[in-house]
Amino acid sequence: MVAASNFTFIIGSRDLIVKTLTIETMLFFSAMGIAVYPGSFDPLTNGHLDIIRRVSHLFDRVLVAVLENEGKSPLFSVSERKELIAACVSDIPGVEVHSFSGLLVDFMQRVNARAVIRGIRAVSDYEYELQMALMNRELNSSVETIFMLPAVEYTYVSSRLVKEVFRLGGDVARLVPPKVLESLKARLPVAAGG
Ligand code: PNS
Repeated sequence: MVAASNFTFIIGSRDLIVKTLTIETMLFFSAMGIAVYPGSFDPLTNGHLDIIRRVSHLFDRVLVAVLENEGKSPLFSVSERKELIAACVSDIPGVEVHSFSGLLVDFMQRVNARAVIRGIRAVSDYEYELQMALMNRELNSSVETIFMLPAVEYTYVSSRLVKEVFRLGGDVARLVPPKVLESLKARLPVAAGG
């Protein structure tokens, strides 16, 4: 079911996932040690946090890597996002927060990591993620992409929707960590009538 050799797509029943993680994949993971979880994280959601917790059980070190991309006009600066993530992961052993610019594969090389973690929420995520994974492999064939599934209750959560719903007065308290909610309240005016 799972190809530990190139990139891994975990699908199927809970039993299948457990079986997979305990046989080939654990060997593969333990040989790697460091995972990089890259993204914009503007802001961190409970979906991201759920993935970080899951990855932390599989790798010695998890490097959450915030992309420095001012072109995207983010709501929070890179340092604000790093601070928020650091505050939210402080209870998870082995997790570090970094930022990077330029190519992800170059960052991976600098930190001596081979595994990229990406969360897949729905089939619609897959096409873009496949392209990125294959491009990264083209750029550096020793970099492997591992797709992880978040808890089902977060499969519809994205940073973009969280910001939109919050701006319009919707309740996002279940979708983001409390510290992120506080920062949203401090940063974003809520629309009148919301
Ligand atoms: O959370 P996002 O915005 O979907 O994360 C996208 C990210 C940061 C993983 C991706 O844009 C990225 O890796 N950017 C770095 C530039 C790069 O390496 N591009 C070529 C590989 S596709």
